[in-house]
Amino acid sequence: MKCGVALLAAVVMSVSALHHAGAHRPLVKPSPATTTRTDARPPARQVAKRANLTAILTLDGPFRAFLSYLQETNLVEVFESQAYLTDQGITIFVPVDTAFDAVKPPGLSELSVQELKNLMMYHSLPKHYELADFERLSHTRPVTTLAGGMYTVNVTYDEGTVHVHSKWAHAKIVGSVSVDAPMAIYELDRVLLPDALFHAQPPVADLPAAPPPSEEDAGEPEPVVTTQFGSPVAVDAPVSSAGAGDDDGRFFACYAAAAALGIVMALVAL
Ligand SMILES: *[C@@H]1O[C@H](CO)[C@@H](O)[C@H](O)[C@H]1NC(C)=O
Ligand SMILES: *[C@@H]1O[C@H](CO)[C@@H](O)[C@H](O)[C@H]1NC(C)=O
Repeated sequence: MKCGVALLAAVVMSVSALHHAGAHRPLVKPSPATTTRTDARPPARQVAKRANLTAILTLDGPFRAFLSYLQETNLVEVFESQAYLTDQGITIFVPVDTAFDAVKPPGLSELSVQELKNLMMYHSLPKHYELADFERLSHTRPVTTLAGGMYTVNVTYDEGTVHVHSKWAHAKIVGSVSVDAPMAIYELDRVLLPDALFHAQPPVADLPAAPPPSEEDAGEPEPVVTTQFGSPVAVDAPVSSAGAGDDDGRFFACYAAAAALGIVMALVAL
């Protein structure tokens, strides 16, 4: 799935590179030698591949409801800025569409745009967390979300299962959509409902049955219980080093292949 995202991003970027003469194409990791050779090259941090949140949520859905709320409240850029213009990065909890369906009217429809914005920001943490990092985070209570102030959640970690608790809803991480630093995106089975917005329990339907696996995912194991939990040692590793290592190797191999494909497609289109 991660590769799918990389493929799309790579195709989009390689095509757009053809339209912007001089734009760099980060096909390879910058080596110290290349960064010292020219002053014009931006610092390594900006060279880092940039994920397109809209594209990810569109491609790896069903996250239509979350995405349209993000767009309605002009938060796509805010989230991307938190990811790429801060040292901390971002973690986004994206409830699936069926989770939004389960919140019965008036539920979210009676929220003002500002309240909706707070609700969306409540679904993210101002720091990039790998799945294994949640074990340590579960010792912090409460955890302040991007919405700040009273908008806090509690995280619990039980043998690899991560729950995110709000006052009126207890959600579970049911999938990793994209975990590469600095933007981690996890799928939730529930919409988080904070007491800062809801003074009483909003009516919520029972958890819908798990949707049938999409064609792309058929045959793959549940993403949450795969390699993410491979090494408990990683829990104590600094979060800032997340994303380095084998994953990057796979990403770049995939990226290079996809970029080549994108260029071929663009040339064919000409
Ligand atoms: C991100 O993806 C969306 C949807 O695929 C696209 O409309 C938008 O132009 C992309 N943004 C960038 C900066 O590439
Ligand atoms: C989070 O944990 C704190 C301390 O245990 C508790 O007071 C608070 O009610 C919890 N909040 C939620 C939303 O579960």
